[in-house]
Amino acid sequence: MSRNAWQEDRGNKDRSITRSGGGTMVHGSATDVRPDTTRAFLVGDSMTGGYGTGADILHDCTIAVDPGEIAVIVGPNGAGKSTGMKAIFGMLNLRQGSVRLDGEDITDLSPQDRVAKGMGFVPQTSNIFTSMSVEENLEMGAFIRRDDIRPTMEQVFELFPILKDKRRQPAGELSGGQRQQVAVGRALMTKPKVLMLDEPTAGVSPIVMDELFDRIIEVSRTGIPILMVEQNARQALEIADRGYVLVQGRNAHTGTGRELLADDDVRRSFLGG
Ligand SMILES: Nc1ncnc2c1ncn2[C@@H]1O[C@H](COP(=O)(O)OP(=O)(O)OP(=O)(O)O)[C@@H](O)[C@H]1O
Ligand SMILES: [Mg+2]
Repeated sequence: MSRNAWQEDRGNKDRSITRSGGGTMVHGSATDVRPDTTRAFLVGDSMTGGYGTGADILHDCTIAVDPGEIAVIVGPNGAGKSTGMKAIFGMLNLRQGSVRLDGEDITDLSPQDRVAKGMGFVPQTSNIFTSMSVEENLEMGAFIRRDDIRPTMEQVFELFPILKDKRRQPAGELSGGQRQQVAVGRALMTKPKVLMLDEPTAGVSPIVMDELFDRIIEVSRTGIPILMVEQNARQALEIADRGYVLVQGRNAHTGTGRELLADDDVRRSFLGG
């Protein structure tokens, strides 16, 4: 995969001071509730909605990611993190708010049309076909493509060499960490413009978590912005350019990863002090 030199200095870049036009981030110990997303590459803007005709789960919730960034969503169980991801991916009817990708309003597009527009999404559960081989999972990922998918598969194998060794094995036989690699690899097969990951390190050991984070950083360095939900909040915020703390479907805190890690309220409430 190609490298972009401007992205080599990874992690905790304070874009609020580098972005021209100025951000709205508050510096010091306090973090913003809402981000400035006017020009964001991918943004779920002021999203309000729930499942079917049920009660609203998201309340005026805004989540965004920009090129070169890893944006991380953290928050308690049931806070609406997955619901926010699903809303951005088009699996939820929003009652208010919009979703924009690269300046285009995609609020009314189906998930499949969003994939065609360049969104890659790895859901929290059921994110691989367990009875199919690793290679077949990757092929399925490329279902919308009509061109030669082999170079992309080689790139996925370069990123996750173990998947090449196991390419003929049923994905269900792989370890938890390797399954997550299959899931991320499958999403990369569409050559997405932006990658959304819901708890990519769920259920893996700390060592495997670190490895997965390293691979995710590597993907982001190829120029693909990453929006991910993580329950390993502290570790995820350490690699986050931008972090969102959601509580009960609302933006509670927003800042750079570093700002959130330094925020007393965030530390006390969400990071165990
Ligand atoms: N398919 C669904 N239909 C109806 N309600 C749902 C559905 N999925 C989730 N919910 C509800 O939406 C709320 C938010 O759930 P969500 O899964 O978005 O939380 P989360 O922050 O991702 O939690 P977790 O950390 O456990 O993954 C919860 O009250 C949950 O019960
Ligand atoms: Mg979830």
